[in-house]
Amino acid sequence: MKHWKVLLALFVFVFSSSWAQTNTKNDRLEWFEDAKLGVFIHWGYYGVNGITESWSLYHKRITYEDYMKQGDEFTAANYNPKSWADLFKKIGAQYVVMTTKHHDGVALWDTELSHLNVVDKTPAKRDLVAPYVDALRDNGLKVGLYYSLCDWSHPDYDVVFPRPNTKKDYPQRGQKKMDAWKRFVLFYQGQMRELSSQFNPDLYWFDGDWEKSAEQWRSRALKDSLLKWNPNVIVNSRLNQYGDYKTPEQGIPVVRPDGPWEFCMTMNDNWGYFPSDTNYKPTSQIIRTFVEVISNGGNLLLNIGPKPDGTIASEQRERLESLGEWIKKHKLAVYGTTAGLPYGHFYGPTLLSKDHKKIYLCLFEDPKNYIQLKGIQNKVKSIKVLGTNEELSSERNGGAAWNNIPGILRISIPKSESLDQYVTVIEVSLEDELILYRGHGNAVELNN
Ligand code: GLC
Repeated sequence: MKHWKVLLALFVFVFSSSWAQTNTKNDRLEWFEDAKLGVFIHWGYYGVNGITESWSLYHKRITYEDYMKQGDEFTAANYNPKSWADLFKKIGAQYVVMTTKHHDGVALWDTELSHLNVVDKTPAKRDLVAPYVDALRDNGLKVGLYYSLCDWSHPDYDVVFPRPNTKKDYPQRGQKKMDAWKRFVLFYQGQMRELSSQFNPDLYWFDGDWEKSAEQWRSRALKDSLLKWNPNVIVNSRLNQYGDYKTPEQGIPVVRPDGPWEFCMTMNDNWGYFPSDTNYKPTSQIIRTFVEVISNGGNLLLNIGPKPDGTIASEQRERLESLGEWIKKHKLAVYGTTAGLPYGHFYGPTLLSKDHKKIYLCLFEDPKNYIQLKGIQNKVKSIKVLGTNEELSSERNGGAAWNNIPGILRISIPKSESLDQYVTVIEVSLEDELILYRGHGNAVELNN
């Protein structure tokens, strides 16, 4: 009987680990490539004084002691992760990434590896990551955890600003004689183990990898462990070269990046809650950015910085909601679509349905005379404006059809009441799968 049980356990282990190995990068990234919108959350002590997250230490704008004093007012008194998750779900986000530990080293979960956590040090007195994870999962949202590899509080991590001895915050039993860096690696890998075993995230968003090499971080070993713990997990590009997708930040790519990618952006000029920073991007800019990102095959990870009590500032909430309303009206162009036409066919962003039978043209300006689409070989079935369903007519002009050179498609312009206040989307349905003309232009050697 015992033998039988051992064999069964062995079979299950071998089977599950071989299954784990078959999760290719493409499989793991499948949901991510369809996600389009994620919400980034920078929540930490820095919101108390309204200063730059962690970097105010680095730039010596505040002493370490004063920075950490902010913890006394980090209350999380009105933290309601369920209402956060409802909001994120409502606006059409598919995943959320929250800072579990920024460069300042303050953990938002109940870590056993340092006392520098919100349970031990703040009036919040509880784990703030656990209810966030539960609320997201209850709403079918994918769970992302941000984790800063660099840690400017850990006594074994060198920093560029004056810092008191922080050893008392880091129980390092039995590690006294160990080399400092080895101790640090053990520490951070231990925190990763905690996060993985307690929350099993769908995505890890690393940061600060630039301070050390892949060899120093042991990035490869970490990636192997993460995949062992969750064969479906995906990782952003800040684990040196061991990430799964690209992570451009603040500057929207002008050239379409290759492979999967995500663009992260603040709504004002800061990641954390920073009330004196009122330089908010207008909703129109946020919606245009979203459209540009998805039309180039990426996701937008749009940041909010909740207040220390856990509420979301109205400027941020309103922007999320307006983006959500736009997405709701244009969902056919957002979900189930891929990056649009290559440059040259249309003056503006486009998207393609996955079956390549629909092209979505995104208009940043109100059109004049006619809407122009070039190089489309297919016959057009119908054209309409998303949201109002107004049918538009079209005609083709020019080209040399007998030489497979399509003419220009002139689409009639929508009535003014069909135009969206931000970005109007025109759906062009084709008779069959898209065939593009990508010629440079030649002499027509056989005329009609
Ligand atoms: C940066 C910063 C950091 C911020 C992050 C978000 O690289 O170091 O403060 O959390 O980007 O993308």
